[in-house]
Amino acid sequence: MAQLRFQSTGEEVELEDGSPIATACEEAGMPFACTEGVCGTCIFETEDQENLSPPTQAELDFLGEHGVRRERMACQCKIKKGLVRISF
Ligand code: FES
Repeated sequence: MAQLRFQSTGEEVELEDGSPIATACEEAGMPFACTEGVCGTCIFETEDQENLSPPTQAELDFLGEHGVRRERMACQCKIKKGLVRISF
């Protein structure tokens, strides 16, 4: 099982390895709009990139090569394994 930790509240959620994180993030209070990687509403910061799926083309287009090192879009990410700490 993989785990999300929301840094603002300390809340932790377990997910199957390989799961999309959007629903868990929405339940933790993160705002969403387009859900397609276009609007940027769901951008969060993390230092645990290695445990997330690689950036999608939509994330690269919006955030840039540099931006995706710290910021990701919750509507585009899957968690691969382990712990991902999320700040939004
Ligand atoms: S909800 Fe629009 S980019 Fe994720």
